[in-house]
Amino acid sequence: MRHHFPDLAKLLVVHVGRSDDLSTAEYIERIESKPRFISIDGSHMARDVLFDLNLAAEITSEAGIVAVDDFLNPMTLGVNEATARFMLDGNKDRLSPFCFCANKLYSVPTGLQICICARSRAVHSVPCKLS
Ligand SMILES: C[S@@+](CC[C@H](N)C(=O)[O-])C[C@H]1O[C@@H](n2cnc3c(N)ncnc32)[C@H](O)[C@@H]1O
Repeated sequence: MRHHFPDLAKLLVVHVGRSDDLSTAEYIERIESKPRFISIDGSHMARDVLFDLNLAAEITSEAGIVAVDDFLNPMTLGVNEATARFMLDGNKDRLSPFCFCANKLYSVPTGLQICICARSRAVHSVPCKLS
């Protein structure tokens, strides 16, 4: 990380506590700009993950990526429940999953044009929206 971001310490805003300690507005105020990558990897309780997903959908940048760790992990059923609830509860217009690998589900803001590559060759470019 230090190699790619020599000024990492200046870029980091550390909040010690639960993700729901702060409101959406407080997060936006603290981080100044909308994040391009959000990793949800805290509590495995459905209620908490649902909060984190709603927060991520609210604050991620227009071309941001949201990763949900432990999706489809049979040991963390709350993560699966929350992700399914989020998608079924009318949030398909906010985030759209586009990739699942290595235990993580990756989503982008719905409608973002994404490029799907295979073997280093671009094969597909699609607007991301689930039907
Ligand atoms: C699965 S671990 C992941 C830790 C970290 N991502 C890593 O790779 O080292 C989950 C961590 O999130 C913390 N945690 C649990 N619930 C949380 C919440 N609601 N908000 C923030 N962190 C939480 C736990 O205390 C634990 O340290």
